[in-house]
Amino acid sequence: MGNMKLNLKIWRQNGSNDKGSIKDYPVNDVSEDMSFLEMLDVLNDDLVRKGEDPIAFDHDCREGICGMCSLFINGRPHGPERHITTCQLHMRKFKDGDTIYVEPWRAEAFPVVKDLVVDRGAFDRIQAAGGFVSVNTMGNLVDANAMPVRKADADKAFDAAACIGCGACVAACPNGSAMLFVSAKVSQYALLPQGRPEARERALNMVQQMDAEKFGNCSNIGACEIECPKDISLENIARLNREYLGATLSRE
Ligand code: SF4
Ligand code: FES
Repeated sequence: MGNMKLNLKIWRQNGSNDKGSIKDYPVNDVSEDMSFLEMLDVLNDDLVRKGEDPIAFDHDCREGICGMCSLFINGRPHGPERHITTCQLHMRKFKDGDTIYVEPWRAEAFPVVKDLVVDRGAFDRIQAAGGFVSVNTMGNLVDANAMPVRKADADKAFDAAACIGCGACVAACPNGSAMLFVSAKVSQYALLPQGRPEARERALNMVQQMDAEKFGNCSNIGACEIECPKDISLENIARLNREYLGATLSRE
């Protein structure tokens, strides 16, 4: 197989106050075996050699588990394939001569730091507001198997816990809503007995923090579920709504 020539159109933006614009980067010699991020590495090597500013983009594990990679590729979060992250996208999915638009996540709650890097600190603050269980670890441990959990609940909790916090759901949503992320984080505990003692506070506090972070409202469009690399189900949003309503009523 020959190597590909591509016409990359990449968003460049020097900080959140800069207006930003798309710049053209024609690249030759792209191997179909490269990952999308490796292709950007090669382009950046070239820019550095020419004395130009390399393109800033987020990445870490490069194996679909950390949630750092975050590119909007040809109008879709994590590119054209379903159920993978940008680091798992390979250049064989594109054709010689293709034009590829590469942009950052676009959401008010995720300001651009530089080029393709956005600040997803809002997710960390939501998580810190309630995405945990309080456990006494001072010589008071209970054996994990001492508490029976229904298999169906354990499986659903595990599916919810697969969320890697990438933010593709927010980027996919025309409202910029974070409901799929928050619902996954609430559900993974709501389904387990260990999560029930703090369930009310968790739902109230995480939703309160979500609202404080400039995320939009959910209007049941469903783009989040389609673009989520971890196949987090909309069922979790229904569960979050039930948890939140229950918590509000019991508070009153
Ligand atoms: S719900 Fe899916 S798209 Fe949203 S942050 Fe979690 S893994 Fe990413
Ligand atoms: S770099 Fe970790 S999920 Fe892509």
